[in-house]
Amino acid sequence: MNTMDELLEDMIQDLYNAEKQLTKALPKMAKKCTNDDLKKALETHLKETEGQVEKLEQVCKDLGIKPTGKVCKAMQGLIEEGEEVLSDGKPSPIMDAGIIGAAQKVEHYEIAGYGTARTIADQLGHMKAAKNLEQILEQEKAADAKLNDIAMKSVNREAMQASGPAGRASLK
Ligand SMILES: [Fe+2]
Ligand SMILES: [Fe+2]
Repeated sequence: MNTMDELLEDMIQDLYNAEKQLTKALPKMAKKCTNDDLKKALETHLKETEGQVEKLEQVCKDLGIKPTGKVCKAMQGLIEEGEEVLSDGKPSPIMDAGIIGAAQKVEHYEIAGYGTARTIADQLGHMKAAKNLEQILEQEKAADAKLNDIAMKSVNREAMQASGPAGRASLK
């Protein structure tokens, strides 16, 4: 890697592979949700994620680079940890709370990745690419906020209730 353009190319290929992995992982997570709002949020974000794959293909076209060629090892690890949550017993509100945790880790990784790539694209003068990366970044931030909202408003409460007397006693 000798230039900032090459660094940006590497980052975008990493993000492209991460999104591709997510299009396979999100349906598995959604399937296990007992909370309908959470299920819906993951399904909505799956559709957004499919759109992000296309948007990244457009970014690559604009930059004259290929989207493929990298495996995002960080996303592999995050998804593996998400699968641990899913395989740990039967679906329950407590599993839902774990799914939110795993999904928010994914969103935060994406927010970091898109934030950095957007800034570099912007500073290199790739305005169209920067704009598209910014749009994806906003979707990831909204998805993260939505998950936070669902945790606070319903899932964590349901999970504490499902935790037995001790969990219920600490409910505020
Ligand atoms: Fe994404
Ligand atoms: Fe995302």
